[in-house]
Amino acid sequence: MVNAAPLSLRIADVSHAYRIDGAERTVLDGIDLRIAPGAFVALLGASGSGKSTLLRLMAGLERPRSGRILADDVEIAGPGPDRLVMFQDPTLYPWRSVRGNIALGHDIAGRGDRDAVERAIDLVGLRGFERAWPHQLSGGMAQRAALARALVNAPRALLLDEPLGKLDSLTRLTMQTELRRLWEQRGFTAVMVTHDVEEALLLATRVVVIGGRPGRVIGDIAIDMQAPRHRDDARLLGLRRDILGQLGHRELW
Ligand SMILES: Nc1ncnc2c1ncn2[C@@H]1O[C@H](COP(=O)(O)OP(=O)(O)O)[C@@H](O)[C@H]1O
Ligand SMILES: [Mg+2]
Repeated sequence: MVNAAPLSLRIADVSHAYRIDGAERTVLDGIDLRIAPGAFVALLGASGSGKSTLLRLMAGLERPRSGRILADDVEIAGPGPDRLVMFQDPTLYPWRSVRGNIALGHDIAGRGDRDAVERAIDLVGLRGFERAWPHQLSGGMAQRAALARALVNAPRALLLDEPLGKLDSLTRLTMQTELRRLWEQRGFTAVMVTHDVEEALLLATRVVVIGGRPGRVIGDIAIDMQAPRHRDDARLLGLRRDILGQLGHRELW
């Protein structure tokens, strides 16, 4: 499992709409972003602002109504192994062991790289649980297994849709640190949807704030601070205030 070269992503003037009840509803309007290879970008915004839609477009699960999305300057035509997606729900197969789930993508690709599977188990801290069944895992462990399943395929970009959203708050803190560590070790480009300002500030190298209906980019903040970051750091508290202001929550300053 060598580190794959991180992917650059370009979202060029993308708008998207859904047909709801016979009417066209624009959900994303004029999104224009360049994501540098190896960045950790948080897409932050309120529920319904179009974050998941934007992530699905980057994953190639949907095509934009207008505009283009490019990965390393090549237009995305569909899902690909260079861009793996992780959702809130780990979606492990209940009839496969932890190891069996982690090896799944590999088995399908016919690669059968057992070393890579074993390294991924170690990387996410699931050694000793590789023979467990999914129903025997805690929520955090199940998400670790899902992470390992993605990492074993050495994605060039990992697209994460509120991956820690269903975890209890303490497990969530641990997993935030883990996610940042894995990103540092593996060097992929990370794009993570979250509605948690603190999570975005603790993890990301850049926070893109999406707001309004239809969703637009209303803020874009670089955070060039090493991890581990402390949530009470004065710079982060200042950025938190800026972002909450952008999102229209001045009462929370
Ligand atoms: N498949 C779909 N069909 C119709 N409307 C959708 C679909 N997916 C999302 N939407 C609508 O698009 C808007 C943005 O949704 P979404 O991207 O899930 O936002 P977020 O992830 O920020 O909560 C919402 O109003 C939602 O109801
Ligand atoms: Mg969403």
